[in-house]
Amino acid sequence: MKTPKRIQPLVEEGLIDEVMRQLMSGKEATVYVVRCGDDIRCAKVYKEATQRSFHQAVAYQEGRRVKNSRQARAMEKGTRYGRKMAEEVWQNAEVDALYRLAAAGVRVPTPYTCFEGVLLMELVTNAEGNAAPRLNDVELSHEKALEFHAMLLREVVLMLCAGVIHGDLSEYNILVDAHGPVIIDLPQAIDAAGSSVAATMLERDVTNLANFFGAFAPELIGSQYGKEIWALYQAGLLTPDAPLTGRVALPTAPVNVGAVIHEIALARQEEEDRIRAQMEMQD
Ligand SMILES: Nc1ncnc2c1ncn2[C@@H]1O[C@H](COP(=O)(O)OP(=O)(O)OP(=O)(O)O)[C@@H](O)[C@H]1O
Ligand SMILES: [Mg+2]
Repeated sequence: MKTPKRIQPLVEEGLIDEVMRQLMSGKEATVYVVRCGDDIRCAKVYKEATQRSFHQAVAYQEGRRVKNSRQARAMEKGTRYGRKMAEEVWQNAEVDALYRLAAAGVRVPTPYTCFEGVLLMELVTNAEGNAAPRLNDVELSHEKALEFHAMLLREVVLMLCAGVIHGDLSEYNILVDAHGPVIIDLPQAIDAAGSSVAATMLERDVTNLANFFGAFAPELIGSQYGKEIWALYQAGLLTPDAPLTGRVALPTAPVNVGAVIHEIALARQEEEDRIRAQMEMQD
């Protein structure tokens, strides 16, 4: 197809040889299938800020890291330079998150580069080599739903171990390739340690998964994996293979009266034995 204007700079740089077709046009970006030498890849062209929905921008802003304070001040003031910086921070956030997550072993498309507002990454494909479907478009059995849910919980844990929370995880931002789910769409990813909304975001992501898979496996509805994962993370106990139950202990666990009485009886017995031994020694 004719090269879209926004992709022209990448063609001139030799990063892309040919634009094959448009794959999708979403809220935040238009995605194309492109050819780079012998490889078929995916190019995500971010829309300008004015065309994007900023529904969650404020919440996300906090977790976003800016490299220097001049940039931060400019962004706060909303100067032209500031707006341009904010744009770049937004676009780079996705490629940064992809690099971090790919290194941590999370199943995400391999990132290649982000240039002039275009993210070049691996095209996730199905068994036939076509663009992979979204999770939302896949038929799931009860068994498959449980399997994918467990796989995705592991991915969420791996992400959090790498300090990242997706922030918009849903059946629309997960693709399914021959090996299972692949997580995409990360420009709003947040830094778990640096954000006051991290716990809320994580819980929402995890609840979205339970609700989606719950339509095929109702036992997942009401599970509390989000709270459980966050509690482990905060306690410094989260590891990639930490066992999860989906339940969290009540903050005030009921006292086991029987065990306490038993403890007291043992202590009394011990004390009686000690006194008896002392008296025997004195005898
Ligand atoms: N690496 C990829 N491989 C295959 N398909 C992809 C890839 N990245 C994106 N897509 C396709 O493009 C669609 C839009 O991508 P993405 O979700 O990243 O952008 P978006 O603008 O936020 O879209 P939306 O508003 O629909 O969430 C995806 O739902 C998916 O079908
Ligand atoms: Mg999306």
